[in-house]
Amino acid sequence: MNTLKYQTGFGNDCATEALPGALPVGRNSPQVCPYGLYAEQLSGTAFTVPRAESRRSWLYRIRPAALQQPFQPFDGAESWLHQFGSGPVTPNRLRWNPLPIPAEPADFIEGMRTWAGNGDSDDLSGVSINLYAANRSMARRFFYNADAEMLIVPQEGRLRLATELGLIDIEPCEIAVIPRGVRLRVELLDQTARGYMLENFGAVLRLPELGPIGSNGLANARDFKTPVAWYEDIEGDFELIAKFTGAFWRTSLPHSPLDVVAWHGSNAPYKYDLRQFNAIGSISYDHPDPCIFTVLTSPSDTPGAANMDFAIFPPRILAMENTFRPPWFHRNIAGEFMGLIQGVYDAKAEGFSPGGASLHNCMTPHGPDAGTFEKASSADLSQPHYIRDTMAFMFETRRVIRPTPAALSSDTLQSDYDAAWSGFKKHFNPDKP
Ligand SMILES: [Fe+2]
Repeated sequence: MNTLKYQTGFGNDCATEALPGALPVGRNSPQVCPYGLYAEQLSGTAFTVPRAESRRSWLYRIRPAALQQPFQPFDGAESWLHQFGSGPVTPNRLRWNPLPIPAEPADFIEGMRTWAGNGDSDDLSGVSINLYAANRSMARRFFYNADAEMLIVPQEGRLRLATELGLIDIEPCEIAVIPRGVRLRVELLDQTARGYMLENFGAVLRLPELGPIGSNGLANARDFKTPVAWYEDIEGDFELIAKFTGAFWRTSLPHSPLDVVAWHGSNAPYKYDLRQFNAIGSISYDHPDPCIFTVLTSPSDTPGAANMDFAIFPPRILAMENTFRPPWFHRNIAGEFMGLIQGVYDAKAEGFSPGGASLHNCMTPHGPDAGTFEKASSADLSQPHYIRDTMAFMFETRRVIRPTPAALSSDTLQSDYDAAWSGFKKHFNPDKP
């Protein structure tokens, strides 16, 4: 049996076995598989997409996933929603304090709160942005999400993601991506856990093109880690929760579905340490658009307009001359949902706490607050500025991001966020160029 290990690389065609010889040689579905295993394909993209985009894996398991009883509706995930409405969305800037850890027992599913989103899983387009706060592991419970690929961004507390394809441990400043349909059990490795979870209904996440940057930089493929095969052969009373078409379903299982002894292919969960990100920026003046910080992207049908970009604002060095160094004032066409994993975000003096979130939608003006503006406008630019204690991120989408009623009525919604942009002095003097 493998201990916890990973294979490196992004989107590679991996091959891994937890027992020697468990992977069939030369055939994906031989007449009889080694060890009496069942062969099963798990495809994450349409069969006929270009080869470079194809994600599919072959799983060799103790029992086929098809061995299951009918599902019944499940009402234990009542705050994990799916509808984002089609009515007006407030143009106001929104910011939230961190979600409190629940007082009642809550696992990863029970502790999920849908905060915003757009699109629809039926259309294979859009995202759902969720916050989670949990205080217990999933016990005798497994889950799969047929609606979306899940991007998990822990902010507090480590998680063990026990998946069909292997074990992934993540801690704050690491992320994990679970492909659509992969069954897993989420375990807490600390007392409590809190973070962000994006459901990507659109094209599977991938590394962005590098263009003139060249063959190195941003998130390097070698730093992505895919688990090696791992399985448990246990029987008992288990439940399998499914998310499908925005609803939750439950069935019982007399065995653990984490029984894949070997697998090969490219459709697999993976993790990435955001601290490995190679941040690239200006070494003369100005700074590039924040897409230069894209870790992963889900493209849409329109070239250049992503269904979702996951960008981060990591520790970095600002050395630009005669430049306003923090993020500038801007109004963008994209929807921007931000979170903070640790430290301080350099465009805000206060109010944006680790675990908190902000939402700035299409054409909503935002940028540095007054304190940050005054400080940066008089900063000594002869010296580089080291931003060390920070890790912020952004889910950026081509569509308007629609906050849910729960987010808009939450006690964590800050009533005075606009005050961050009050107090700007008038510096204009027509007699003084
Ligand atoms: Fe922005």
